[in-house]
Amino acid sequence: MEENLVTLTIDGVEVKTKKGTTILEAAKQAGIDIPTLCFLKDINEVGDCRMCIVEVEGRNGFATSCIQTVEEGMVVHTHTPNVLEARHVILDLIISNHSKDCLTCTRSGNCELQALATKFNVLNVEFPGEMSKHKIDDLSPSIVRDFNKCILCRRCVAACKNVQKIGAIDCINRGFESCISTYRRS
Ligand code: SF4
Ligand code: FES
Repeated sequence: MEENLVTLTIDGVEVKTKKGTTILEAAKQAGIDIPTLCFLKDINEVGDCRMCIVEVEGRNGFATSCIQTVEEGMVVHTHTPNVLEARHVILDLIISNHSKDCLTCTRSGNCELQALATKFNVLNVEFPGEMSKHKIDDLSPSIVRDFNKCILCRRCVAACKNVQKIGAIDCINRGFESCISTYRRS
């Protein structure tokens, strides 16, 4: 049984967990919170947004904790100044290309991006300039799609593919034109 366990240290706390567990999950088991945006357990585990980055001693760069699995003896730091600054920049980049109508948005107060921006004290638009300009799609009587609010986390793509088993949508186009759509022939 022991050989299926890995021991590592996260923020000074010794954690024993099963082989194959992600750093994010191991931290959760130890009561340590790592912020996430694109992650949806068992549905969207693609390491896309990088909000969950951590530092691992002896490694260059950041590890993406929602996809990086634990290793024996690993020493992880989840809230170093470098990690916090990098998460702040990630949020700055997302928000610089996002609608800023929180006061009138129906999701205000129930929005993960807004909550993280508040938590990380993202107060200004650090990267002003060109932004995506998507036409609001309100053709359906039941749903309005405003891609100016989409952060391309791809959760909807994963839910369609992995939960509904359909796979009808994906990210199309590039750069500021990127959006989630059904497949189209060019
Ligand atoms: S539309 Fe899809 S990709 Fe865009 S923010 Fe919503 S769940 Fe994420
Ligand atoms: S939550 Fe890990 S990369 Fe998005």
